[in-house]
Amino acid sequence: MKKIGVLTSGGDAPGMNAAVMAVAKSAALYGMPLVGIKRGYNGLLRKSTSLYDDMEELRLDTVLDIADRPGTYLRTARCMEFLDPAWREVAANTLRAMGIEGLVVIGGDGSFHGAEYLCELGIHCIGIPGTIDNDLAYTEMTLGYDTAVNVCVNAVRAIRATSRSHDRPHVVEVMGRHCGDIALTTAVSTGAEIVLVPEVPWSVEEVADRLNQQIAKGNYRATIVVAEGCWESMAPFDMYTFLNSHGKRCYEGEPISSLRFASILKRMCGMVEVRSTVVGYTQRGEQPTARDSAFAFEAGHLAVRLLRDGISNQVIGMRDGQVYYTSIDTALQAERPFRRALYDLVNSL
Ligand code: F6P
Repeated sequence: MKKIGVLTSGGDAPGMNAAVMAVAKSAALYGMPLVGIKRGYNGLLRKSTSLYDDMEELRLDTVLDIADRPGTYLRTARCMEFLDPAWREVAANTLRAMGIEGLVVIGGDGSFHGAEYLCELGIHCIGIPGTIDNDLAYTEMTLGYDTAVNVCVNAVRAIRATSRSHDRPHVVEVMGRHCGDIALTTAVSTGAEIVLVPEVPWSVEEVADRLNQQIAKGNYRATIVVAEGCWESMAPFDMYTFLNSHGKRCYEGEPISSLRFASILKRMCGMVEVRSTVVGYTQRGEQPTARDSAFAFEAGHLAVRLLRDGISNQVIGMRDGQVYYTSIDTALQAERPFRRALYDLVNSL
């Protein structure tokens, strides 16, 4: 294989740049020219007027400069056109026209589906899991997850200081889409009293009970860590009637949020205040931790080695603490084990 490409796709994740650096160093080692594709798969659709908007020859000194930075130098996007076979054909033709024989795709499950489609069209692809969500079952970690958790842990520690000072509970919402891993690890690492995730059904009344138990024990500043997807697994609750009948204006059909949840808990638990914070995009904006950077380094190197050896249709992951690879198909079919016992432990102490 002569020339290869690399792209980042989906939500940006700390460590993506470090992985691009590792790909660039390894490509240089094997004498394979490397092209950076911009804005995920969009860069292959040739919609822009200048080629430079879509691609860039990645030189070593450029990538060495960006390796530690959060975000992604190559930019990223979610490319809806890739659901259409005609656009995938355009992408494959672009790669062929550029003489790019293999592609490293850094992203989450949607990006891996895209890589699988390109493999069907004869393009060699290797995936590196890049998403803060940790929602890919075949791997023990995804790039960016460790960094995101550390951001959340620091946020909870800071929030706890003010919670303690005011003796008031706090709801802290973290990202993760349909996956509760960021929330659970944050809760465990900070000694939070309650954690809520999309994987486990729960009800507002049950959480209020648990908070009341904490208050009865003299703990007025419990931390309730909630995954952004936890509202999916919440038992039906008539927030409109409850809040309006407890002196808080609420609009019919308004979706539940951390802010509203805090208002409900305040009223159910007889507290003066329950506050809430959404950690939000700061989770994606930190420099990668050593753990994420180290994974990026090994994964980036292995991806290029596989392409050099003519191996395709694989994704790289971590198993028993070792970097390994498996087929995209196997990876996408793997079932996610949620750490239920740990979840129960947090909620029972
Ligand atoms: O997949 C990563 C992630 O940060 C999720 O945790 C979150 O739900 C989503 O991306 C946000 O997406 P966007 O950047 O499109 O708002």
